[in-house]
Amino acid sequence: MDRARQESELRQIQKMESVGRLAAGIAHEINTPIQFVGDNLRFLAEAFGDLTGILAAYRAGDSAAAAAAEAEVDIEFLLAEVPEALGQTVGGIDRVAGIVRAMKAFGHPGEEEKAPVDLNEVVRNTLVVASSEVKYVAEVETDLAELPPVWCHVGDINQVLLNLVVNAAHAVGAAVGATGELGTITVRTRAEGDEAVIDVADTGCGIDPRLAHRVFEPFFTTKQAGSGTGQGLALASSLIVDRHSGSITFSSEPGAGTTFTVRLPVGVAVARGAERGLAEALV
Ligand SMILES: Nc1ncnc2c1ncn2[C@@H]1O[C@H](COP(=O)(O)OP(=O)(O)OP(=O)(O)O)[C@@H](O)[C@H]1O
Ligand SMILES: [Mg+2]
Repeated sequence: MDRARQESELRQIQKMESVGRLAAGIAHEINTPIQFVGDNLRFLAEAFGDLTGILAAYRAGDSAAAAAAEAEVDIEFLLAEVPEALGQTVGGIDRVAGIVRAMKAFGHPGEEEKAPVDLNEVVRNTLVVASSEVKYVAEVETDLAELPPVWCHVGDINQVLLNLVVNAAHAVGAAVGATGELGTITVRTRAEGDEAVIDVADTGCGIDPRLAHRVFEPFFTTKQAGSGTGQGLALASSLIVDRHSGSITFSSEPGAGTTFTVRLPVGVAVARGAERGLAEALV
């Protein structure tokens, strides 16, 4: 097997690993709305049964029986609760659909051609997929500026952001411990010159300055076996630097937090060039 193919398969395995680790949490995220959708539908079925009973009495022209049936089922209660239950059910289905959509965006094999990508959409999908990892330790804030489409492999950027957000959640988890307090993870995007910039900032434990030069090393981890293999940042760096000619850097203050910054060339020049090439080819 040639080296490029080997690397690509390794990347694929690492991606599957990190999504796999989130699977239980995502299943839980989906299960909660599914459960109340189920409860609501059972209630609605019962309510519909009650209402058809009343309707039947009215149709039979038996107004005494109809009034009795109305009183028995507490029609005021149904009139108030049924629309509520319908609204909640639709909301629950929307939530599940949102999670599934975000996961599908992650299903991209990542070997496709580069294409123009809305990085803010990538940020939103990542935060949905990482939500189960994040929400018990941190509040998430986003500050997403208007960005031009960025020429990139969307699967790669999903993966990099996921690794950064999960790292941020772990760092915040280490800082808040069992206090029950929540830290903050802030994801910001902005355009700067010909670059799109993404910051992932956390109020976590920070990085020991004596170890800072090692964090991008493959297999460097400060986490216990089972919770980290030390591949997240090495993979992120290879995806951003080697595959996108971008950069990934960080600044950190032990005890206060860390901000990772990803810079990606927007690639308009390349895109325009390609268009021009196409235009010339068509002439
Ligand atoms: N936001 C952060 N705050 C504090 N330390 C961090 C942060 N991000 C990374 N680190 C440090 O860098 C190390 C390497 O990170 P990396 O993502 O490569 O591996 P990992 O998270 O330990 O394991 P994996 O990502 O493979 O599950 C971490 O173990 C941690 O010590
Ligand atoms: Mg990691």
